Amino acid sequence: MIQIAIDGPGGAGKSTISKAVAAKLGIVYVDTGALYRTIGYYVRSKEIDPRDKDGVGAILPEISIEVAYVDGAQHVFLNGEDLGDKIRTPEMSMYASAVSAIPAVRAFLLETQKEIARKNSVIMDGRDIGTVILPNADCKIYLTASAECRAKRRYDELIAKGQKVLFEDVLREMNERDTQDSTREIAPAQAASDAVILDNSGMNLEESVDAVIALVREKTNFFEKK
Ligand code: DC
Repeated sequence: MIQIAIDGPGGAGKSTISKAVAAKLGIVYVDTGALYRTIGYYVRSKEIDPRDKDGVGAILPEISIEVAYVDGAQHVFLNGEDLGDKIRTPEMSMYASAVSAIPAVRAFLLETQKEIARKNSVIMDGRDIGTVILPNADCKIYLTASAECRAKRRYDELIAKGQKVLFEDVLREMNERDTQDSTREIAPAQAASDAVILDNSGMNLEESVDAVIALVREKTNFFEKK
């Protein structure tokens, strides 16, 4: 079993890169942001302010989240419903970020994440994977890139999905979300003291994947056992 923790701000390419690395290594890719997005989605559907700690805390018992992996793709079920791309909008990014600052929400999702890593070899991406969820991960990487570069990637992704967005709005919202995620009191988004910082501003996808795999090779005995 291997645990690879990938943390970092939005738009650094964590999910695309982690997915590709998972496929190459034959391990499970876990997108933890999807769990916070799912809670954000439910909170929005109940018309609750996502910053309202008590309001959000009160509806958590109504939520059941199940995670399944089909052909390497993660599916998150909210009370039995697969939400698919409904959690991928800029609005859901902001909802996810707001609810993720609430301690009860983090406690609610803690065991789900730990259990997946107990049962599978994983590459897990998020904000607090190396610090809180998998403090003993075999390899910890903090993936980052310049703000402009990250916003451009996020913008291209949204446009490719047919969403109508402006680059300026994407950049502003991304900066707002990063500030919110990295300055919150609980589990702020930050590099673990034993994480390797990987800035992939000048790298394409293939180069980023190679860089992550090189770090896995350096930090773990995964390839020796194969
Ligand atoms: O990775 P993402 O953009 O899908 O994450 C959405 C939000 O969820 C992000 O702004 C902060 C929160 N999050 C978190 O607090 N901890 C994680 N491990 C993953 C995401």
